[in-house]
Amino acid sequence: MRVLVTGGAGFIGSHVVAALTAAGHESVVLDALLPSAHPGPTPPAPPGDRTVVGDVRDREAVADALAGVDAVCHQAAMVGLGKDFADAPLYVGCNDLGTAVLLAEMAAAGVRDLVLAGSMVVYGEGRYTCPRHGAVRPGPRAEADLRAGRFEPRCPDCGAELTPGLVAEDAPVDPRNVYASTKLAQEHLAAAWARAAGGRAVSLRYHNVYGPGMPRDTPYAGVASFFRSALARGEAPRVYEDGGQRRDFVHVRDVAAANVLALEALRERRDSSFAAYNTGSGEPHTIGEMAGALAAAHGGPDPVVTGEYRLGDVRHVTADSRALREELGWRPRVPFAEGMRDFAAAALRSPGGPRREDAVTLSGA
Ligand SMILES: NC(=O)c1ccc[n+]([C@@H]2O[C@H](COP(=O)([O-])OP(=O)(O)OC[C@H]3O[C@@H](n4cnc5c(N)ncnc54)[C@H](O)[C@@H]3O)[C@@H](O)[C@H]2O)c1
Ligand SMILES: [Zn+2]
Repeated sequence: MRVLVTGGAGFIGSHVVAALTAAGHESVVLDALLPSAHPGPTPPAPPGDRTVVGDVRDREAVADALAGVDAVCHQAAMVGLGKDFADAPLYVGCNDLGTAVLLAEMAAAGVRDLVLAGSMVVYGEGRYTCPRHGAVRPGPRAEADLRAGRFEPRCPDCGAELTPGLVAEDAPVDPRNVYASTKLAQEHLAAAWARAAGGRAVSLRYHNVYGPGMPRDTPYAGVASFFRSALARGEAPRVYEDGGQRRDFVHVRDVAAANVLALEALRERRDSSFAAYNTGSGEPHTIGEMAGALAAAHGGPDPVVTGEYRLGDVRHVTADSRALREELGWRPRVPFAEGMRDFAAAALRSPGGPRREDAVTLSGA
């Protein structure tokens, strides 16, 4: 099949293109090569059989890129927490207006299959159990608590300590920042499009994706990239809060494989539908463990726990990805320890365009 991969020059998109090629499919890349994602004078050469350098908010560029495609894998988005609230229009523009333009053009072109890069950020705080009240949903943490080093959310009813659990897809959504809100709105738009245009859509709610080709640390990057970039500079990874935040780190090759499986599965479906699937390794780890594993694999320096915090961050969020395994037959193949060892040695996306090892990642890994 011929697949349009939006954001195909990015971290995950470039791995999706490689996985599509390996599975015998063709890909067209549409990417605006945003400076926030590709800082530096020379943007990377996007992978794929055909490339349109253009913006998903631009109808003409989207219509051009859609010519002759069977399905769309929508990865293009502004990612991360951004610098401050002033970034909000940019996030909403790229992520939500961009998705609306893409979906409208797909409807016009009769392209009915969509895989969307969703995110676990739609859940807000993960799932917790109170010893007295059972399943509870703590609200955003108060800044006074964070400042005082009280990082664990407490039971909203009795203040007891809570046990974190795994979120399933039916957990209530509760986006806590602009980026999270835009990722949720993308899903709502995709569901509305599926109903109105007879589309078949899957959102893969990625957890913390890491691996070769990850961008260097910018306000738009993920935590694994902050740590990896610090180590590359010979500095200790700086771990916020007390390092006990639980996440699910999933390797980018496993995420790329999930995209290919979802694209192939959609072709089997007849009726219009929208479904969301958690996409996590199923192996929760703390941020502190991740920093430690990376530092050890890199040969130091050891991480430092700083007690700093970011207001939009949640304490724990880990996935139950059983549905993706059972319904689409997905198997994450890269275990945490091996993935972190590999990532400690792998190249990050360089600010001045791809270096030789980045180029390998773009075309083949
Ligand atoms: N990295 C993670 O851990 C993670 C977790 C959950 C979800 N996601 C989602 O995965 C997708 C890919 O993220 P990534 O980590 O590869 O980020 P990335 O920044 O490396 O890649 C995103 C790509 O999209 C392009 N892009 C952004 N806005 C665009 C626009 N308006 N028009 C055209 N191209 C545009 C950028 O130039 C970039 O190449 C995003 O949708 C993101 O929300 C990522
Ligand atoms: Zn309670």
